[in-house]
Amino acid sequence: MGQNDEEWTELARQCQENGADALELNFSCPNMMEEGLGSDMGQVSALVERFTAAARRGTSIPILAKLTPNVASMSPAAEAALSGGADGFSAINTIKSLMAVNPDTYVSSPDVNGKSAVGGYSGNAVKPIALRFVAELGQNPKLRNMHLSGMGGVETWQDALEFMLLGAGSIQVTTAVMQYGYRIIEDLKSGLAYYLQTKGFKQVGDVVGLGLDSVSATTDVLERESIVYPKFDRKTCIGCGRCEISCMDGGHQAIRMDERRRPILDAKKCVGCHLCVLVCPTESIGSSGKRISKND
Ligand SMILES: Cc1cc2nc3c(=O)[nH]c(=O)nc-3n(C[C@H](O)[C@H](O)[C@H](O)COP(=O)(O)O)c2cc1C
Repeated sequence: MGQNDEEWTELARQCQENGADALELNFSCPNMMEEGLGSDMGQVSALVERFTAAARRGTSIPILAKLTPNVASMSPAAEAALSGGADGFSAINTIKSLMAVNPDTYVSSPDVNGKSAVGGYSGNAVKPIALRFVAELGQNPKLRNMHLSGMGGVETWQDALEFMLLGAGSIQVTTAVMQYGYRIIEDLKSGLAYYLQTKGFKQVGDVVGLGLDSVSATTDVLERESIVYPKFDRKTCIGCGRCEISCMDGGHQAIRMDERRRPILDAKKCVGCHLCVLVCPTESIGSSGKRISKND
């Protein structure tokens, strides 16, 4: 990360001279000591293009632009980096956040001698947001053939695979390593290798982007003429009533408990939202039943 054209060029030159195989340009850190750096820069496409070009002038090794998720859409910055000469992208960096507010002192966390600051949120909680941005880049036709390095909440090989299915050709892990150590990388590799072998894929690259076709940025493509009713397993159900409460207070009042505290569904009221499936602690409610036309 440089502060002007000359610094970006010089840093790139020095990195190559000292043996780097590739560069990641930091257009995305939200924890800067001064304004106008990190994610402030990554939010302005003209600066992303200008400083990518400056780094390009200093090196011939591959350049990845690391993009900020503190934007509505990542494509403008990605396309700008492409114009500046980047070979690919890394996404996502951390998301601007405040963790909590102390009810006694009224100071937000982390409390550093009575002051706090907006900081970057990372780890498994950000994975859905990261996947959305990775899919956006993976689907952008202008970015086809660009390398995409995915990250944001990867802890397991399944997490890594999800990023790959949405277009990531490589994976990075930060928070999970801080929590569990480098040994999780071995688990990631062996889990992924097992998956590839079981499914008959020859190499990791074979799965990259396979999940992109199903993703839409808007919900208008979703079919609304049919419904999958939840299926209750009355044997494994423990009668906790969470499905009834959720449906009553947060859904469509379609579930009531019988005298043995087992759920009964009113199919006329059920809209197939599957909130009951989500809240059931014993996985006694299935969501993979037959899709039925609403008009029947
Ligand atoms: C403690 C910490 C320090 C980080 N420092 C940097 C940094 O110097 N440059 C950068 O581009 N990203 C930095 N990141 C962002 C991570 O590389 C990564 O993009 C983000 O945390 C999401 O991945 P994760 O959920 O696996 O941590 C940092 C993240 C953490 C948690």
